[in-house]
Amino acid sequence: MSGTVLGLETSCDETAAAVVRDGTDICSSVVSSQVDLHAAYGGVVPELAGRAHLDLVLPVVAEALARAEVGAGDLDAVAATVGPGLIGSLLVGTSAAKALALGWDLPYVAVNHLEGHLFAAVLDHPDPPWPLVVLLVSGGHTMLVSMEGPGRYRLLGSTLDDAAGEAFDKVARFLGLGYPGGPAIEKAAESGDREAFAFPRAMLEEGLDLSFSGVKTAVVHAVRKRPEATDEDVAASFQAAVVDVLVTKAARAASRVGAGGMCLAGGVAANGALRRAFEAAASELGLPAFLPSRAMCTDNAAMIAAAGWWQLEHIGPSPLDTAADPGLRLPLLD
Ligand code: KG4
Ligand code: ZN
Repeated sequence: MSGTVLGLETSCDETAAAVVRDGTDICSSVVSSQVDLHAAYGGVVPELAGRAHLDLVLPVVAEALARAEVGAGDLDAVAATVGPGLIGSLLVGTSAAKALALGWDLPYVAVNHLEGHLFAAVLDHPDPPWPLVVLLVSGGHTMLVSMEGPGRYRLLGSTLDDAAGEAFDKVARFLGLGYPGGPAIEKAAESGDREAFAFPRAMLEEGLDLSFSGVKTAVVHAVRKRPEATDEDVAASFQAAVVDVLVTKAARAASRVGAGGMCLAGGVAANGALRRAFEAAASELGLPAFLPSRAMCTDNAAMIAAAGWWQLEHIGPSPLDTAADPGLRLPLLD
């Protein structure tokens, strides 16, 4: 069946809406970032994020519909991120989506944000060689997932403490490089020496779980010990340590499950050094690497509309009393 879905994403600090046809054809994808609003505080302020979503959500929806040149009558469903995320932010997006669905007499679909990131990873590849090992690295999550198909996920490993993106953000804040930290570290690292510091690679030799709190603490100690060190060298060495661990674990996971391909997903997947090392590791294993565009790595609503369309077709619409869930987990196979 064919259909057009309006997706809304408001789980953190991006207000996003998108129109996607048949689960893969992106007609429009509008992302309004609140970076300027939160930058002065060095991170996302949940209360401010919720209020900003409230101001932005309907204009962003209007823009997404206008850019796609569709009206309510052309839509077949409205999907929104139901969790995980900040409760106030989730409430704005889900309430808006439910109201629009009710007003336009369309089905409502409550989408898991993490599942959205997984759909973004395969958006350009409708029939990939399953299973795929997906390295999902964002500000709130870091996990290795074996994706056997849409809706069929097995968790292979995850971080025991900080998410990779959180480590980027915290190190950037410590160095005074600003927020969001990932892009700031990547930029500083470009002119730094990745071998200036030998930062720890936690649990590199075995297993599929990860840990990033040690490398973050090591950065703080190293800078206190060598205050003359440049931000560029620290950033480059930190980024190299994180990328090394992520790529080693992803390659190990791919070998272990006999994956048909390797995918990147989540905001940290926008990082150029990670993308290059990930592609090289996949090619060494003789596997295809599926890397979404940078815009599809960071939070967006196209991935929510894509996941929403699949969900509507295979599971059905969500009741309008589905509650936003800040701690929602990825649904896993037994
Ligand atoms: O997926 P995402 O947009 O939001 C969450 O679901 O968390 O990921 C945001 C995270 C932030 O921690 C941000 O610093 C990181 O992704 N990030 C990056 C880059 N761009 C965004 N990390 C490293 N390098 C980047 N270029
Ligand atoms: Zn995300």
